[in-house]
Amino acid sequence: MMKVYALHAADAHESQCLVYLLTEGQLDGKQVKAVEQQFELDLQPLFAARKFTAKKGQQLQVPVVLHGKAQTVLFVGVGKNPTVETLRRAVGAAVKTAQQVKATTISLFAAHAITLDAALITQLAVAAKLAAYRFDEFKTDEESIGMKIMELFIIADDFPMADKAIAQAELIGHAVNQTRHWIDLPPAEATPIHLADKAEAIAKKFGLKYTMFDEPTVKKMGMGGLAGVSAGSEQECRLVIMEYHVADKNAPTIALVGKGITFDSGGLSIKPAASMETMKDDMAGAAAVISAMEVIAQCKPHVNVVGITPLSENLPSGKATKPGDILRFYNGKTAEVKNTDAEGRLILADALSYAVKHYKPAAMIDVATLTGACAYALGPFFTGMMGNDADLIAHVKKSGDTVGDYVWELPFTDDYDKAITSDVADLCNIGSPKYMAGAITAGKFLKNFVGDTPWVHLDIAGTAFGVPDISYYGSGATGASVRLMIEFVCTWPTKK
Ligand code: BES
Ligand code: ZN
Ligand code: ZN
Repeated sequence: MMKVYALHAADAHESQCLVYLLTEGQLDGKQVKAVEQQFELDLQPLFAARKFTAKKGQQLQVPVVLHGKAQTVLFVGVGKNPTVETLRRAVGAAVKTAQQVKATTISLFAAHAITLDAALITQLAVAAKLAAYRFDEFKTDEESIGMKIMELFIIADDFPMADKAIAQAELIGHAVNQTRHWIDLPPAEATPIHLADKAEAIAKKFGLKYTMFDEPTVKKMGMGGLAGVSAGSEQECRLVIMEYHVADKNAPTIALVGKGITFDSGGLSIKPAASMETMKDDMAGAAAVISAMEVIAQCKPHVNVVGITPLSENLPSGKATKPGDILRFYNGKTAEVKNTDAEGRLILADALSYAVKHYKPAAMIDVATLTGACAYALGPFFTGMMGNDADLIAHVKKSGDTVGDYVWELPFTDDYDKAITSDVADLCNIGSPKYMAGAITAGKFLKNFVGDTPWVHLDIAGTAFGVPDISYYGSGATGASVRLMIEFVCTWPTKK
């Protein structure tokens, strides 16, 4: 865990690692001079010898010992006109380096060319917290255990402002890391009941309304999609609903819906071994929604928010749903199951129908590790986005861009509608091969359950887990869409 604080420059030199974000061409600025003075160094020859010019991605470590105390001065290049994302990654890389040199306290100085306003302080503090995340509760070596707590001091002048910005980052960073932790947990632990219990504890702690439907109730209510996917598993399914309410009785409601398959074996249409390896991540959407609700409960936006998560395992057994079975959903529509591995859309169909019927949302976003096709189309750096409302799509895109949780819109014209027709039911749960575009045809399936609700579907199959090269992530879960949803809700309504 990492705690972040604001600190005056004068107090910052105690930290074990002193990080300086430098823009290109700032190597002789005030800060470098201050370091030279403080530690009695002559840095220019070192910069020259190591060819350190503060280009984007460059780092230069300078171990120093003063009065018997060892510290690391770390210069991090951010290039000429760094974007916020460049700065996030610079901070992420700095935290990783600080961990490597065994520093547990870090001071972060930004070059004068970088204006540390409240928004940027929040973004950098979140990036640092994400970078410090590790999933090591099953590691037993001493080193992992010793490095648990880190403190980051962001050097700032304006204190109430910086403190507020950091408090916001603590909430967001915690939410993203909690999401990642649940996703990284082994699927034997992160079961539907386990996640439902986590959601209940959060609801209780932060004053949200909590409703849970167990498997017999799900069946009785006519949620044939969720019940059908859960049929093969020994674990009971759950439908979990968390509600945040504002006092205004006329306030609109935003619905957040997250796919919660706690393990996706494919069911009887079983996955090949390699594809199954990471399928504990198939509840990433649900985990993201539950964690976003925790922050929403504390940020208190001026809009009602309901988080709905269908939770189930997808396993084969003598009781499992079979290819050829026809399921009836909460809104009365039916679908032929041709492939039991296209299960996400089946549980989301019920959850979306439930949201539409009971909350009449002014906007609805669903988040799901829905298709391998999306991961192939966009790769690991952009979440796939589809929807039926241009304004909502624009707001979601903007929210993602602001916080570094990037989405990319896919085409969603009527041309694809016919891909999911069936000879024997209203819909088929896989697209006809002629249409290809598996991410889009999955979105088209979901569209049948949203009615006229302004709606956006986010496919995080490529972005939820195992994203390479981004310094503030690691080898496992990323928490994709948590930051986006928080930003989206907290900036509602949008001004066009
Ligand atoms: N959970 C998977 C999608 C997925 C793939 C998530 C890779 C994360 C990484 C989903 O349930 C699935 O199996 N989808 C199938 C759909 C197909 C059978 C139409 C897929 O993408 O292959
Ligand atoms: Zn599947
Ligand atoms: Zn799945």
